[in-house]
Amino acid sequence: MKQFLAFFFFICSLSYGFGQNLESSKVNEIKVELYENDFLTPEFHKRKRDELRKLMPNNSVAIFFSNPVRNRSNDVNYEYHQDPNFYYLTGIREPNTILMVFSNPIQINGKFTNEVAFVQDRNPDAEVWDGSRLGIEGVKERFKINTVLSNKEFKNLQLNFDKFDLITYSIVTEGLKDNPFDKEDMYNLRQQLEAHLFKAKDEKIKRREFNVWMAKLREIKDKEELVLLQKAIDITCLAQVELMKAIKPGMTEYQSEAIVEFIFKLNGAEYPGFPSIQGSGQNSCVLHYQTNRKIMTGDNLLVSDVGAEYHGYTADVTRTIPVNGKFSEEQALIYNLVLDAQNAGIEAAVVGGSFWDPNVAATTVLSQGLMKLGVIKTPLELKRYFMHGTSHYLGLDVHDIGTYGKLTENSVITVEPGIYIPENSPCDPKWWNIGVRIEDDILITKQGPVNLSDCIPRAIQEIEQLMKEESFIKQ
Ligand code: GLY
Ligand code: MN
Ligand code: MN
Repeated sequence: MKQFLAFFFFICSLSYGFGQNLESSKVNEIKVELYENDFLTPEFHKRKRDELRKLMPNNSVAIFFSNPVRNRSNDVNYEYHQDPNFYYLTGIREPNTILMVFSNPIQINGKFTNEVAFVQDRNPDAEVWDGSRLGIEGVKERFKINTVLSNKEFKNLQLNFDKFDLITYSIVTEGLKDNPFDKEDMYNLRQQLEAHLFKAKDEKIKRREFNVWMAKLREIKDKEELVLLQKAIDITCLAQVELMKAIKPGMTEYQSEAIVEFIFKLNGAEYPGFPSIQGSGQNSCVLHYQTNRKIMTGDNLLVSDVGAEYHGYTADVTRTIPVNGKFSEEQALIYNLVLDAQNAGIEAAVVGGSFWDPNVAATTVLSQGLMKLGVIKTPLELKRYFMHGTSHYLGLDVHDIGTYGKLTENSVITVEPGIYIPENSPCDPKWWNIGVRIEDDILITKQGPVNLSDCIPRAIQEIEQLMKEESFIKQ
């Protein structure tokens, strides 16, 4: 067996490094299949590049890089995920690609253009391993980018960067590893960028100036984006609802995680938008718990904080449920307090209000409620049991970028207050190991806040009723 494996790997490494397995003519006929037709349209991405240009000062350039392929160890890489800014502006989901957006048209290869993408060439050897690439023609055909060139041309690009008044760019520098088989991987493209920028005066280079522009753009969602975000949220609803039906004392946290992520994949989500949090008992008090290995007992609460990602957009919804299907008296008191705080927070999420209004509203309810229950004596003590904000923007990133100023129409935020009382806290031990978070995804509209995730019950009675139902998942 060992000999067979050795032989197999020998053949594999031979073909990866050196072999020409497919004739070039053949590989050029193979297209990247588009298995679904509900992606953001090329017109959307083009519109976003136009909107970006309007925010850019005269005579400036913004350079965006795709995410690098990140190595996990040896010859295994992490699953590839595109950089959200890059995806937003192009729709391209391949690595080793550059987008340059110019505020004013400039000449490239003798032609005036206001944007150029440098993309990976087709490559028969690599495509045998990693799947088809779009190549120059594929990108031209699928995405409406004015100028598309090979990333091999980036190195010798004839462009005087010192002519710009402002140059801003993004590139991941941490952990970049050179792929010896690819002379235009991110490692090399980064070196090539540095060589280009070497010719420009330092004061013109403002590395992350584009962040403010991208935050302004990405904060406000177009209709197309809201369709995808709602789809991600609907899938997350299915998962949370199925979990409520399926959970039983004696199950492990990884089994509840498996149920959630099974429903995600079953319904077409590409990934979880962030590592699924399944914290039961004492782990319900760990905000971003990820171990998910404990056996859940009947008296445990489970904080299930999860989000499906669909075509780039991620949901983020938390429900806290009793593993045995029935909240204890103390659990119910804390739960209802968090629910009241959340409702106050959602109500405060209105157009023109401050981004921080939901936080203020929820915090006020929580501190008064915990004082009434005798858990704390003064409002200042609240941060011992509630140590995070109630809200963040939601979109291509779970903690999406935004301006954090006034709430604007068609932005989406979470409202997620919580109370976390770990063991040995300075309060009556009857409250210990109760952790509760309730999180929903709220669309800001002129008509008031719209709860996009209200397909999952929040009221205790509704949750307990649903937990009596049978799941189709049997263990
Ligand atoms: N899922 C992480 C958060 O709620 O912010
Ligand atoms: Mn959140
Ligand atoms: Mn969350």
